[in-house]
Amino acid sequence: MIRVAVFDAYGTLFDVSAAARAFAEAPGNGAFRAVWQTVARDWRLKQLQYSWLRAITGAHTDFWTVTGEGLDWALEASGISDPDIRENLLALYWELDAYPEVPQMLATLKENGLSTAILSNGSPDMLDGAVQSANVGEFLDDVLSVESVGIFKPDSSVYDLVGKRFGVERNEVLFVSSNGWDAAAASGYGFRTAWVNRASEPVDRLPWKPEWILSELSGIPELAEKA
Ligand code: LAC
Repeated sequence: MIRVAVFDAYGTLFDVSAAARAFAEAPGNGAFRAVWQTVARDWRLKQLQYSWLRAITGAHTDFWTVTGEGLDWALEASGISDPDIRENLLALYWELDAYPEVPQMLATLKENGLSTAILSNGSPDMLDGAVQSANVGEFLDDVLSVESVGIFKPDSSVYDLVGKRFGVERNEVLFVSSNGWDAAAASGYGFRTAWVNRASEPVDRLPWKPEWILSELSGIPELAEKA
């Protein structure tokens, strides 16, 4: 029986790509418009690579730092050196929207008696900003950040935060992520898992697989009931 539904933040509850697209389409951002999709993709890949590399080498820093470092790589790769673009893109991380189905989905989980939380690489202040701007704080029992253990996902000490906070067994947790690697690693840890695969990407070739694959989040409450 699922007692807690736990969500990754960026790309799972919060729509990072819509924010980057809106910036690219805003008047005056013509130079960026031509390359924004490449920048957005490189940015995300580098942000994650740096998080994993820092985790395996014990060189932890917070997610805000790797987010900035990933963006610097991505902008240089696309030949963009305008500091205003850098600043504006970084600012997006503090004022994200939730995907449209998120408030109702979280409200239904709460009505059904489940606890709900975010479990994210994000630092507490970044997550506070996003939770507030997306207006979803009322539906969340907690926001758990890797900063309390000082290492990024998918280190198991991050997933341990859920059992410590809610006093539940691993198989009583439904973990939901738009990152295939995060959902897969959480399966390996022993959570029940759903991968939200909005972009129809291939399944990651890892020793573990997500248990369910969804295209968006509205089916989560039903899945938690039947799991
Ligand atoms: C997070 C990133 C990995 O929120 O999306 O933890």
